[in-house]
Amino acid sequence: MKRKTLTSVISAVALATSAGLAHAADKGEVEVLHWWTSGGEAKSAAVLKEMLEKQGYGWKDFAVAGGGGESAMTVLKTRAVSGNPPAAAQIKGHDIQEWADLGFLTTLDGTASAEKWEQVLPKVVSSVMKYDDKYVAVPVNVHRVNWLWANPAVFEKAGAKIPTTWDEFIVAADKIKAAGLIPLAHGGQAWQDATVFEAIALETMGAELYMKAFKMHDPDALGSVKMVETFEKFRTLKQYIDKDSPGRDWNIATNMVIEGKAGMQIMGDWAKGEFAAAGKKPGVDYICAPAPGTAGMFTFNIDSFAFFNLKDANDAAAQQALAKTILSPKFQEVFNLNKGSIPVRLDQDMSAFDQCALDSMATFKAANTSGKLVPSWSHGLATTSQIQGAIYDVVTNYFNDDKVSATETVDKLVRAVKSAM
Ligand code: GAL
Repeated sequence: MKRKTLTSVISAVALATSAGLAHAADKGEVEVLHWWTSGGEAKSAAVLKEMLEKQGYGWKDFAVAGGGGESAMTVLKTRAVSGNPPAAAQIKGHDIQEWADLGFLTTLDGTASAEKWEQVLPKVVSSVMKYDDKYVAVPVNVHRVNWLWANPAVFEKAGAKIPTTWDEFIVAADKIKAAGLIPLAHGGQAWQDATVFEAIALETMGAELYMKAFKMHDPDALGSVKMVETFEKFRTLKQYIDKDSPGRDWNIATNMVIEGKAGMQIMGDWAKGEFAAAGKKPGVDYICAPAPGTAGMFTFNIDSFAFFNLKDANDAAAQQALAKTILSPKFQEVFNLNKGSIPVRLDQDMSAFDQCALDSMATFKAANTSGKLVPSWSHGLATTSQIQGAIYDVVTNYFNDDKVSATETVDKLVRAVKSAM
């Protein structure tokens, strides 16, 4: 049944192409679901829309607000189940496999071989995009999640130095607090709590134990002393966060750093997109540094679009054009300059990129060979959405309840992951 649908879509695409439907009026439209609604994100999404429209295809924007994409995924499920999925949706990691397994996704193999994706993509990326050895999704970028963003003017005022270790982080945070400013800009939402927790886990556990816990779900790693330590450190952060944090969006938190109300934020490099959109310059107006204690390590988060089976041949052709555009060097450059991430093509010319991006690229490549490149579980690259959700709950509940101990919480974590498997 699934195979039949895929075949009919492919032959319809071939037919449309060979018939040479080159007129704009005949060209199809793609509806694209994403959650890129902050300043930097919206600018990035607009690049794709423009580049597709320039080729004569239509773009129907399907933006669902909400950092991290939880709301977008809920909306997508409703639409897909009612038999009306969009042409493409921002879907990541394991979820790609799940959607493909359910028979929803179309193949991009024709475009992939014409465009030589196999040769330009790192293996760690292309393997995530394939189901049954066929491309069903296309990667947009590589985000590094373990970053610290800092406002140098705040640091100067506080007489603090940019921290490279956890202990230095505490020293800097205390100084910023003493200077009457907010040390850490944070939004109290489950995915943001998880993002920060993940950075501390990497620092405390190291790459190997991190992998055992968050990718392999080894109960000993999940229940380890290092995990207890991670939770304890995580709680210490609370004294450095302001009382208005609950529910705050991540980009509002970034804005606190931009405006000098707060000294730091621990967040993936989509935060750089906000600094860029505000006209700020790295190394001058803001500093990007590895999250304390994680230099040389790289938690990766790859944004990607998965492509759904469509009935209309013109729309299916537009879909393939979208896939092709996403991996074109021009799009990779303009999009990633706005988004804060690095291009996903190994052969990309990086001359237009800033120092943060160059550092990110260098670390990505080095970490890939040193075993320090790890998938971000908080952004859906390491595990299933069920397990991710289970960890989110444990982490957030702990952060919001000072009465529960780290040891109790780690026991809960082991059980929660087991029951979500
Ligand atoms: C991540 C996504 C990024 C960024 C961020 C905040 O999960 O990969 O592209 O959008 O959420 O919304």
